[in-house]
Amino acid sequence: MLDFSSIRTSEGKLEIVNQLLLPHTTEYIEIKSIDDAFDGIKSMKIRGAPAIASLASLAVADYLARALATSPSPDWLETTDAFKQHLEAILAHLFTARPTAVNLGAATRRLSNKLQTLIDAGKNADTIARELISEAKNIDAEDVGRNKLMSKWGGEWLVERVKTQGGSDTDLNVMTVCNTGSLATSGYGTALGLITYLHETGKLQRAFFTQSTPYHQGSRLTAFELKSLNIPSTMLCDSMVGSLFQHHNIHAIAVGADRVARNGDTANKIGTYNAAVLAARHNIPFIVVAPVSTVDLEVPDGSGIPIEHRPAIEACLVRGALYPTTLNGEGAKEQATVMVTPEGLEGVYNPSFDVTPASLITAIVTEKGVAVKKSGEEVFDLTPIV
Ligand code: MRU
Repeated sequence: MLDFSSIRTSEGKLEIVNQLLLPHTTEYIEIKSIDDAFDGIKSMKIRGAPAIASLASLAVADYLARALATSPSPDWLETTDAFKQHLEAILAHLFTARPTAVNLGAATRRLSNKLQTLIDAGKNADTIARELISEAKNIDAEDVGRNKLMSKWGGEWLVERVKTQGGSDTDLNVMTVCNTGSLATSGYGTALGLITYLHETGKLQRAFFTQSTPYHQGSRLTAFELKSLNIPSTMLCDSMVGSLFQHHNIHAIAVGADRVARNGDTANKIGTYNAAVLAARHNIPFIVVAPVSTVDLEVPDGSGIPIEHRPAIEACLVRGALYPTTLNGEGAKEQATVMVTPEGLEGVYNPSFDVTPASLITAIVTEKGVAVKKSGEEVFDLTPIV
């Protein structure tokens, strides 16, 4: 597992690593308030559906701990009604930071439900605050264990499938999109977890990953994670997926998810749909790996998933470090943000996510197991894995 993750809690401080500067600069930013957490999520200093849910939860825990330690106590801690009103407003605000990733909503809803249960049980505001702090910390802590489980279920499923089709299960090539590893979660990762699991069990030949423009989650973050984990890997530009499938033996595509609808339609990083269409054309299994909290049973299909559009400027910039001489990292490093478009460009299309229809997905994996479609069906019954 990568020896540092997106969130650090030590000596009473809540910090995130600024992912806008990775991989060249490791800068931690202290999250001292709900506004800091909101800004960190919205500006994508921290990103990845599970990681933002963890940060939002830990920021709420921190906020409540500070309030309990304040003397005299803030007014809203005096009655449970005032507490409820105050906290619900904070949770609702945090939920708006990024609209597609439903884990954030699952975390805020879990805290909101817990709050109501404690009020109904007649607990006082101090006790409620303490219990919410531990619930919020659990949301973060539960992530690593479930990631390891889903990675194992998904990895074992793929190995079995390859073996049944007469292939060798010790030289698997798996492609992924975006970044779904330790930086996008509280540790180990989802789709990148599956790849890590195959590597750890001696089944992986090579991981392939797209750059995942325009934010470059692939070339900046997945590249960094795979390198740190010593997993053999190859990067490709987003436009090279078809060529890769034509010229290399790729055994599977494994991606994460920001929201899975009830029928299995899946929103994930922009470019995932393109990869799925090409995977279907080349008969390559397409696997979605995500925790139960990413499944939104209230949305019947992908048309109901809100898609976040990022500011136009983000598609016109490339962030990185200036390397005056070589690709291997020698020479002076300096952070740079470079504009690649002419100034004053008028039209920019910049959705952050796309929806891959269930018909193009071979398997959906959560910590509870693997779902495949019934023969002849175009959609999933996710009941057994949620
Ligand atoms: O915009 P991002 O970087 O937050 O998008 C992240 C993704 O699309 C990931 O694939 C998804 O959140 C799963 S992370 C385990």
